[in-house]
Amino acid sequence: MSLPQVHHITHPLVQHKLTLMREKTRSTSGFRRLLNEISMLMAYEITRDIGTQMIEIETPLEKMQAPVIDGKKTVFVSILRAGNGFLDGMLNVVPGARVGHVGLYRDPKTLVAVEYYFKMPSDMHERDVIVLDPMLATGNSAVAAVERLKETNPKSIRFVCLLAAPEGLKNFHGSHPDVPVYTAAIDRGLDEHGYIVPGLGDAGDRIFGTK
Ligand code: URA
Repeated sequence: MSLPQVHHITHPLVQHKLTLMREKTRSTSGFRRLLNEISMLMAYEITRDIGTQMIEIETPLEKMQAPVIDGKKTVFVSILRAGNGFLDGMLNVVPGARVGHVGLYRDPKTLVAVEYYFKMPSDMHERDVIVLDPMLATGNSAVAAVERLKETNPKSIRFVCLLAAPEGLKNFHGSHPDVPVYTAAIDRGLDEHGYIVPGLGDAGDRIFGTK
């Protein structure tokens, strides 16, 4: 089994937008716009090694063989509900991708993930999965989502978040050392309610304006 990998996306544009998102005075529309922009930038990093195939095209001057990606082979899997905030930006960059959803809620007392929804495209064994959840906090939801996804036998799985807590990374890679994590920041830790600190608060509330 390969060693756990954490890809810290340090590009200044990503870091700048993340800083703006963390600010508590940021409006819902501003937060959402920034998340959309940061998703596109992160998609660029995450898909760096995506497979291409050569096709024949014709330029105004001559025929040539040129590379294209097969977007349909990619599945973005949103962990509801905050994962949906990542989707638009990712789909802007890979418009042919399929989308799956996993519904999990955190039991507020135990912080354990409980599944209530799971819907994936067919033929998962032919597809590369990119799991989306802005916050890798305790890691319990991420562990449970990837466990379920592995039952569908996809070609590969990678996990993308905006912020990760060290506790979440340890928990996640304790269960899934074979799944690389892409994150824009690794914060100090978790508070007593399981929130990432300094963090950005409740990502779902900030995306959907439900606070
Ligand atoms: N989920 C969130 O939305 N924020 C956190 O800080 C932790 C989990």
